[in-house]
Amino acid sequence: MRAKLIVGNWKMNGSRAANEALLKGIVAGLDNARAVCAVCVPTPFLQQCEDVLTGTPVAWGAQDVSMHAFGAYTGEVCAKMLTEFGCRYVIVGHSERRAYHREDSALVAKKAQAVLAEGMTPIVCVGETLEQREAGETAQVVGAQLDAVLEALDAASVGRIVVAYEPVWAIGSGRNATPAMAQEVHAQLRAQLKARNAEAAEVVPILYGGSMKPENAKELLAQPDIDGGLIGGAALKAEDFLAIIHAA
Ligand code: 13P
Repeated sequence: MRAKLIVGNWKMNGSRAANEALLKGIVAGLDNARAVCAVCVPTPFLQQCEDVLTGTPVAWGAQDVSMHAFGAYTGEVCAKMLTEFGCRYVIVGHSERRAYHREDSALVAKKAQAVLAEGMTPIVCVGETLEQREAGETAQVVGAQLDAVLEALDAASVGRIVVAYEPVWAIGSGRNATPAMAQEVHAQLRAQLKARNAEAAEVVPILYGGSMKPENAKELLAQPDIDGGLIGGAALKAEDFLAIIHAA
């Protein structure tokens, strides 16, 4: 049985004052939540996460990383630097980075490798656009996105990643994938992981992301291959994020 994993992706939101209240609110409301939880915050707020969350059950991480180790890459942040702030997770290949920063799956694979090399967990995002879904290309698109990463990893490392299925049309739209639609894709992703490393596939959490909210979380999280959520908008309010954590 995989423990459920609920991760907040704050995207480009937050301020030092607001974060303090949000992080403390999350910690205060955890009670005996069964789910594992984490927040992935903008890089300048990682120190604040370390200050507030050390010693609590809430882990933290970043939303992107450079594929390079060090050097003349102005504006970039490498995996080693993230470890200095206690990061456990790093999101790679979010659809917003694929769309607005032209990241392709080969680059995403390199970023996942960079994260693993520093002992952190990459949260590898895959997902189809509405156009691709309507053209019946979902399985092929997400399959190719995950394969690019799996091919770059040795078989043992497969068990050290997290996968997130985020249909692009469901992100920030208020229109989540139905539990059945999401389960179908998650089962495919699980089969792909199994083909690479059968044992690891049993422990890799596959998260759903895209308008997950307190109202739909329970039903989505009840699906056999939905092991948690990657939460955008609803992770910015302690009450909503906690409701999702407690639904898991
Ligand atoms: P929303 O929950 O706001 O739809 O965002 C999902 C997402 O992109 C998380 O990475």
